[in-house]
Amino acid sequence: MMVNVRLLRASALTAVVCGFVVGCSGTSEPEAPSAVVIVDAPDMAVGADASVDMAPQFELPVVADWPVLEDKNPAPDVVEVELEAAEVELDIGAGSPIKMMAYNGVVPGPLLQAKRGDKVIVHFKNSLKSATTIHWHGLRISDQMDGSPRIQRPVGAGERFDYEFTVPDAGTFWYHPHVRANEQVELGLYGPLIVHDPKDPVVELERVIMVDDILLSEAAVAPFMQGHMEAMHGRTGNNLLINGQTKTPALSAQQGVGVERWRIINPANARTFEVSFDGAPMRVVATDGGVLPQPYEATRLSLAVGQRYDVEVLVRPEQPQQLWAHIPVLNDQNEVVEAPFELYRVTPSAAVSEQAAPLHWDGEPSPTPLPTRYEEYVFEGKENVFGSLEWTINGQAHRTEPLSTFGFGEVVAMTLVNTQGQEHPFHLHGQFFRIIDDGAGRLVPGLKDTVLVPGNAKVRIVAYMNNPGRWMAHCHILEHAELGMMSEIVVEPPTSP
Ligand code: C2O
Ligand code: CU
Repeated sequence: MMVNVRLLRASALTAVVCGFVVGCSGTSEPEAPSAVVIVDAPDMAVGADASVDMAPQFELPVVADWPVLEDKNPAPDVVEVELEAAEVELDIGAGSPIKMMAYNGVVPGPLLQAKRGDKVIVHFKNSLKSATTIHWHGLRISDQMDGSPRIQRPVGAGERFDYEFTVPDAGTFWYHPHVRANEQVELGLYGPLIVHDPKDPVVELERVIMVDDILLSEAAVAPFMQGHMEAMHGRTGNNLLINGQTKTPALSAQQGVGVERWRIINPANARTFEVSFDGAPMRVVATDGGVLPQPYEATRLSLAVGQRYDVEVLVRPEQPQQLWAHIPVLNDQNEVVEAPFELYRVTPSAAVSEQAAPLHWDGEPSPTPLPTRYEEYVFEGKENVFGSLEWTINGQAHRTEPLSTFGFGEVVAMTLVNTQGQEHPFHLHGQFFRIIDDGAGRLVPGLKDTVLVPGNAKVRIVAYMNNPGRWMAHCHILEHAELGMMSEIVVEPPTSP
């Protein structure tokens, strides 16, 4: 099924009517059950001690239908892979092949997977005609390996760079460039990164679902930053692109499959995705910062760009089950309505067990420390002296001096203020935080690295500054970041007593 026909660009809509627009009013965040008290801080100060006690015989779970980067290192705790970025022509289901950029020839890129505590070595080769870096979105690693072009000299055309880091947290992450990201990510440079943990919930099968969109014009990726709307709202596509295909991947579940863990990632430039699973509840088991202390059920989830949700779904024998995206479109009367688009379908091939898999929760929550510091960051678009639009944080575009400098281990309450209508998914590198108020007064379960600041809203988060270094802090609408909504915070190294 092609889904390009009536798919609107969100930019055209935000101006029209707010009630229907994805992510517009904050009505679409996961329904956090009010009874659940969620109180775990990240369990480890990564700068202090990243060593992890790990069962030696742990085998990585099967992730269905995804090319996996081959681990060339025989050592059990080292994952050593090769990654190459290059220009390609790919059939994404849009009629004729499209000129794109890809990691190892595929969009999305191959799966990088490891287990918690592993050392990861990525031998990267840049075969593009332009410079790039790789950012490992969500990993609390050393800032030297984080892909920030403010720290790392970008890897030039034809050059190589070896990324090397230890992965301290289990969860669903992703990787993408941090140089001209609005172009390179749209063109296909992004891939999933999973860090497993022997204590993860046990399921029959795992899947990765990357929900993206792409702006095509005449069998090509449309030119970038043409016109005001893309700068204003970020670039939204006219095709959905699910796991790199404009068509719905229809999959047959394997015999005996019951409970599956779907790791959903939103790598789009700007579009917030609302997803539901056949109207049935999804059991939310993890988010940006890994497994939740208490899973909860949601009928609908909202994924701002950069965010992840892991859900458990039960594949039933009777009929195909589908994952839907709810996208604003224009109907025949020219009204904005929400239409469901099929993202993903599972067709069971045999009787499956109705029994949920046993779950192994390691969820003894530790109390959240109280904030010792308060910061307010204001997100604003302005006209600069040349009369063009720039995006600022605390009044400055492309801030070079740090927004704030924090002590190691500091717990910081941040108020994120948006005085205008456009939304800003704020991403903090290298640390996790908790969303205390999503802008509509609700607490969002789990540790996050990206939070949607809806239009004309204030969002409150509590961030745990446990990873020393210089860390990018920016809007993940890649056009906003490119036009200035980009800054840095500093976390000082631990002081020895
Ligand atoms: Cu996913 Cu600074 O980015
Ligand atoms: Cu923004």
